[in-house]
Amino acid sequence: MAFSSLDIMCCWLFLISLLQFGQAEVDPIVIKGSHFFYKTNGTAFFIRGLSYYPFGIDGSASLGSQFPDPLADETICRRDIPYLLALGINTILPAGPNQNLDHTACMNAFADAGIYVLKNLHDVTEHTVDGSIPGWDDSTMEFFKEAVDSFAKFPNTLGFTFRAIASSNNDFPFAKAAIRDIKDYINSTYERNVPAGWWSGDASLSRHEYMTCNDSKADFVIVLSYAGSD
Ligand SMILES: *[C@@H]1O[C@H](CO)[C@@H](O)[C@H](O)[C@H]1NC(C)=O
Ligand SMILES: *[C@@H]1O[C@H](CO)[C@@H](O)[C@H](O)[C@H]1NC(C)=O
Ligand SMILES: *[C@@H]1O[C@H](CO)[C@@H](O)[C@H](O)[C@H]1NC(C)=O
Repeated sequence: MAFSSLDIMCCWLFLISLLQFGQAEVDPIVIKGSHFFYKTNGTAFFIRGLSYYPFGIDGSASLGSQFPDPLADETICRRDIPYLLALGINTILPAGPNQNLDHTACMNAFADAGIYVLKNLHDVTEHTVDGSIPGWDDSTMEFFKEAVDSFAKFPNTLGFTFRAIASSNNDFPFAKAAIRDIKDYINSTYERNVPAGWWSGDASLSRHEYMTCNDSKADFVIVLSYAGSD
C-alpha cells in the first residue's frame, strides 16, 4: 500500500446546511466560512488525510482500469483501519471510483472508526475533465452523477472531488463548469449539500484562486504532493 501526504489548502465560503440528516453513526462534516466543522457540536474538524491506493494483491502497483477499489473489499479496508487510526488519520482519498460495486461494508467500517472519505468522481482512464480534448461534456457529467449517487448516502462522505487535466490557463473554465454542474446536481438531488472540490498537483495560487472565486466555486481545494511516497 502506498500513502502520500494530502494537504487541504483551503476552503472558501460555503453554506450552512439546515437540513436534517438521516440516522448517522458519524457526525457529518459541514463547511462554515473557510473551515470544516462537525455538524452537531460545532467543533472544528482538521483533516489529517492520506491518498489511499492499495496495491494489487500481488503487490503490483498497476495504474489503469484494473486499479483495485479498496472500498469494495472489506478484507482490505478492515485490514488497514487499525493502521490508519494508529497514524491519526481521519480522512482518506481512495482510488476509484467503481460505482458498480457495493461500498456499504467498508464505508460503515470507516464510519465506526471515525474516518471520513473524500470521493473521487473521475476515473483514471476515461472520465475526467480534460481541457485538451476539450473539456466538459454530458458523458462525463453522467459518469460523475453516478459516482455522486453511489456515495452521497454515506454520512462519512466528506466531499466529492475530481482531478482536471489542465495544461494551460484556458483549460480551467472547464473545471469550473464541472464544479458548477456537480454542485447544482447535489443541491437539487440530495438533502445534504455534500461539499464539492477540485484537486491537482499544481500548486499555482492564481489557479486555485480562480477555482474558488465567485459563483460556482469549489468548496475546497486539494493539492497533492507525492514527494516521499513509494
Ligand atoms: C464533537 O464531535 C466529535 C465527533 O463525534 C468529537 O470528536 C469531538 O470531541 C466533539 N467535540 C466536543 C466539544 O464534544
Ligand atoms: C440550492 O437550491 C435552492 C433551490 O433552488 C437554492 O435556493 C439554493 O440557493 C441552492 N443552494 C446552493 C448552495 O446552490
Ligand atoms: C468574478 O466576478 C467579478 C465581478 O463580477 C468579475 O469581474 C470576474 O471576471 C469574475 N471572475 C471569474 C473568474 O469569473
